Formats: sequence, C-alpha cells, structure tokens
Amino acid sequence: MSYSLQDFARDTREILKAGASRAQVEKVKTKMEQLLVDPGFVKQYFGEDQPLGLKRIHIDPTGFEIMTYRYNEARKSNPHDHGDSWAIYGQVAEYTEMTLWDRTDDDSDPDFAKLKAGKPYRLVPGKAGVYYGRELHSTATPVNTRYLRITGTDLENIERLRIDAATGKIQRIYGRQTGAPAAVR
Ligand SMILES: [Fe+2]
Repeated sequence: MSYSLQDFARDTREILKAGASRAQVEKVKTKMEQLLVDPGFVKQYFGEDQPLGLKRIHIDPTGFEIMTYRYNEARKSNPHDHGDSWAIYGQVAEYTEMTLWDRTDDDSDPDFAKLKAGKPYRLVPGKAGVYYGRELHSTATPVNTRYLRITGTDLENIERLRIDAATGKIQRIYGRQTGAPAAVR
C-alpha cells in the first residue's frame, strides 16, 4: 500500500500529540522510513524534474516542517546542532555519512569549543537517523545525494550552533540558508 507525504504528516501529528520525547521522535522515524521507500513519493519529490538544492515541501500547522535535499555535487558540513529542535534525516538516494561530535571543553568560552569526533556511519536509502537535544553532528554527501529532513520547528526562528571542526570557532546561526551544509570546493 502506498504511503504519501500527507499520510506521513498525519501520522507525525498523531505521534507528537503525546509529546516530543526521544521515544516519540523515534516513532516518527519509523514512519519516515516507510515514506522514504514509497515509489510514488520518491518520484514526485525526488525525480529528475525536481529542482536542485533544498526545498520545503510541508509546513505543519502544529509546528514541524519537512524539506527535500537534492544535490549534484559532493558536500560536507561542519559540526552543527539544531538548537532546541529535534531533527530526523532520511536517505532516499546515495548516502549521508554522519559523524557525531562530543564537546570536551567545559562550555565556558562562548566563542570556542573543543570537539571530539565519533566514528562516522552511513545513512543509506530507506534509513533515517534522529538528532535530538543539541546533539552535534556533521554530514558528508557524495554527488547525487537525495535526502529528506523533518525538524520539530522552523529552524529560522531558533538559535543554532555551527562549530569549525579545524579551529573550534563557534558560530551562532539564525537564518535558514546558513543551516545548509557548505559545498566542498
Ligand atoms: Fe543537521
């Protein structure tokens, strides 16, 4: 049976009625994995006729939003969080290499952080990953990657951190565009 964007939005609304604990967000992830492999959904939102870049495809009246990402270039982001919002990344084509980062400093310097990278792992087509409670993560994606992301709120309205992996310099982000990964040059 097919599973549409509207079905997913409805199921997500239902799940979040019980709150947005990690356990509830994990339930949203399970539903998202159903959507990622639906041929009708993939054709409509990730087909060759879709524009490159990121595109917001659903804004829910209850607050969450859903974006598609389609790139024809390899990209790599610096470690970042999503502020107080949870996020789920779900892969549609190619892969996303995810790295989780721990802060090893005492958080006393507002401008610099010390980071330790965890072991990278891959999200492959049909698989999604939850990023919750200011977990720092970075992404690396190859040519032609396509993925879906849902966040608990519009990220434009909340403060987020991006940290330069090499220098530890902390950047505070408010706008939408700056939340996108930087292109690899
Ligand atoms: Fe992210």
